[in-house]
Amino acid sequence: MRLRHIAGAAEFVAAHPQVIQEQQALSLPGQWQEVFANSHPLHLEIGMGRGRFLLSAAQAEPQINFIGLELCEEVIMQALQRYQQLPENIRILWLNAQLLDQVFAPGEIAKIYLNFPDPWPKNRHAKRRLTWDDYLQKYRRVLTAAGTLRFKTDNPQLFDWSRARFAANGWEPLTLSHDLPLEESGIISEYEARYRRLGQPICCGEWRRPELQDGGGQEHTALNIIEEDSR
Ligand SMILES: C[S@@+](CC[C@H](N)C(=O)[O-])C[C@H]1O[C@@H](n2cnc3c(N)ncnc32)[C@H](O)[C@@H]1O
Repeated sequence: MRLRHIAGAAEFVAAHPQVIQEQQALSLPGQWQEVFANSHPLHLEIGMGRGRFLLSAAQAEPQINFIGLELCEEVIMQALQRYQQLPENIRILWLNAQLLDQVFAPGEIAKIYLNFPDPWPKNRHAKRRLTWDDYLQKYRRVLTAAGTLRFKTDNPQLFDWSRARFAANGWEPLTLSHDLPLEESGIISEYEARYRRLGQPICCGEWRRPELQDGGGQEHTALNIIEEDSR
């Protein structure tokens, strides 16, 4: 999602009481439950965009604390303007995902959602993809031992490339589909809604975090993938 610069967006976003900026976030590893003043599990959406998924998920699961991470202040401003009253169990983290392991302690996050990240189709940009090894290693560090990551995309090439990266980094696939039916909950992101309207198949996978001592990044030969394609 590319938006033109909007004058005043940074100030607007920074002034919101449920937005956490980089400087504050860097002092919060291990203390995120205090931000919410309860001990509920933390779920993190990376690249939340205009917040449709985040808001619906937080409303459906009030016993979960949801953090929506987003890099672009113009996008956050649009989310804040759209949803003027955010539920108490939401915080928006205005941050580049590259800093993830500096703002969360090891094992602090129970679940990560990666909804329709930018595909970066050129090979020379592969390391910018949010499923590149460096990111997977950050995700592994911040997830709890039983923590999982759910990834959705409309882009089958990105999905298959990402599957290989998860496998190479020792992540255990729990579900994999190249054509996910609309979930009963109806909780979907803005991009998912757009692609479903266009009739495009949605790829979705969920993986469990690898053990910390297994030296993630090693090549794994056995994939043990359970395909649930409805094609
Ligand atoms: C294609 S949009 C998808 C938005 C939303 N997840 C959805 O499914 O509707 C990707 C979003 O990820 C954000 N993003 C991209 N790279 C990021 C990064 N390194 N850190 C945080 N957010 C990022 C972009 O600004 C954009 O809003």
